[in-house]
Amino acid sequence: MSGFFNSSIGRKYAMALSAFFLMFFLLQHFAINIVSVFSPGTFNEVSHFMGTNPLIQYAVQPILIFAVIYHFVMGFVLEIKNKGSRNVKYAKNHGAANSTWMSRNMIYSGLAILAFIVLHFIDFWFPEINTKFIQGDWSGTLEGVEGYRYFEELQHKFVEPWRVGAYVIAFVLLALHLMHGFTSAFQSIGSTAGRKQTMQNIGKAYSILIPLGFVIIALFHHFNH
Ligand code: HEM
Repeated sequence: MSGFFNSSIGRKYAMALSAFFLMFFLLQHFAINIVSVFSPGTFNEVSHFMGTNPLIQYAVQPILIFAVIYHFVMGFVLEIKNKGSRNVKYAKNHGAANSTWMSRNMIYSGLAILAFIVLHFIDFWFPEINTKFIQGDWSGTLEGVEGYRYFEELQHKFVEPWRVGAYVIAFVLLALHLMHGFTSAFQSIGSTAGRKQTMQNIGKAYSILIPLGFVIIALFHHFNH
């Protein structure tokens, strides 16, 4: 088994599995955050449940963080290995002739998303970890804020135009990364030709709609705070 995951095919397979897990995370992350646009109260309730549920905090969240780190590290490993094999003049790689610009630049869109994740963690995740695990405050409340604090904190983060701009640029790059990533991940796990077109259409819809939804959330809070 460990031999398989150390092989070139095994590594691509594991990369695809981590990609599918992250795509599932992104879908539920979007589903929760879009609620903030329609109902601050419900958003606060859901955020408090997710943020204080022991199963999510101690089991799902560590798996998610591991998947994020694994996906980035493996992305670099695969890129370095591919570069190495390209130096030996891989006969079929003719740049633009048989691969898209995005497929050849996944590492760069990936790096931009990594930069976004660092900013995003500084904005949301680290303060959350600090409040709960360092200060030991699991109440979900804040002095001067009526009810739970999550909606208030979210809106506050989208006040500054530079941050909204950075987020929107990152979401556009995320769309491009997902567009190629989805197809590539399906190829890696060996999806059958018959279902290929359907899967590609689902992949395209997902890759455009989810990042577009995130753009709407960011702009909505910027113009409505
Ligand atoms: C406007 C868009 C977004 C909003 C409003 C948003 C909001 C949040 C919030 C409030 C948290 C803290 C949750 C907590 O720990 O209690 C969080 C965490 C996180 N976000 Fe986002 N997010 C957005 C987009 C994204 C995107 C596009 C990605 C991935 C590319 C992402 C990845 C993560 C990750 C990995 C975490 C840490 C794990 C977690 O606690 O769920 N987010 N986000």
